[in-house]
Amino acid sequence: MRIASVSDIHLEYRSNRELFLKMAAEIGARGADLVLVVGDVSHIDELIVRSIRVLARQAERVAYVPGNHDLWVDRPGEDVQNDSGFNTWKRHDQHLKAMIESEGGHYLPAAPLRMGDIAVAGSCGWYDYSFLQPEFRGQIPELALREQTIDGMQWGDRTRTAFRDTEGRLMSNPEVARRMEDALHAQLSALERDPSVERVVCATHHQQYEQTVRRAGTLPWEFFNAFMGSSRMGELIDQHSKVEHVIYGHTHALGDHRVGARRVFGTPLGYPREHKGISDEEVLRTRIGWIEL
Ligand SMILES: [Fe+2]
Repeated sequence: MRIASVSDIHLEYRSNRELFLKMAAEIGARGADLVLVVGDVSHIDELIVRSIRVLARQAERVAYVPGNHDLWVDRPGEDVQNDSGFNTWKRHDQHLKAMIESEGGHYLPAAPLRMGDIAVAGSCGWYDYSFLQPEFRGQIPELALREQTIDGMQWGDRTRTAFRDTEGRLMSNPEVARRMEDALHAQLSALERDPSVERVVCATHHQQYEQTVRRAGTLPWEFFNAFMGSSRMGELIDQHSKVEHVIYGHTHALGDHRVGARRVFGTPLGYPREHKGISDEEVLRTRIGWIEL
């Protein structure tokens, strides 16, 4: 079984669309059984649908987890948290699932994907500020975290997502993270108990392990690390011995780590300015993740 993974392809940029077509062709040429899309295709629906359509021509199966950008709503200048009728869970649970399935893709937050004795579990994941180091936490007022703003710079999720509970109350980011983690935990636990499953690949857009977080040691970078992921996600994954490979996106930094017995890696494409000056060959070599099982 050969699995390819891509993340953070940000197709709203034309040069990324061109690179993505080359990446898809490379995946097809190397004969992948499965392609995993680990979030941040785009905030534009048509581009998400098109990415699945393109990849479905290159591999047997395509599976997808949303990234935070895929969950964004495109209402420039508006704060969707002020719209009490708007709920990002609807996009997460229904709209994205329908979009992915319309092209024959598998929407991982709804259910794991089984391929013989191998299974893939996945989630967008979210953040609970656990990757904000204690020495910076003390300098950051709670309001700044809630508003996701420092020195006039605001994290994009703040005005483009609004996760509401069943009563319509706005959920905090740690509450969103808990819900995503609990759903992933349920998937992993069911696979762990299933005797017909031998090995599990786990993919989440947000980061799971402290070891993979890129550190600058200064603000504002370390402030924004608060929104990179949650360490509880890694702790939950660690309870499941069948998980051998863990994939993350979100950070636009390449990484390939050993965390305990697991391989934990990310191969984001990132924004055009982040791979400027890198040849197409280098992009194809480094921005596609490969797992052989
Ligand atoms: Fe992201």
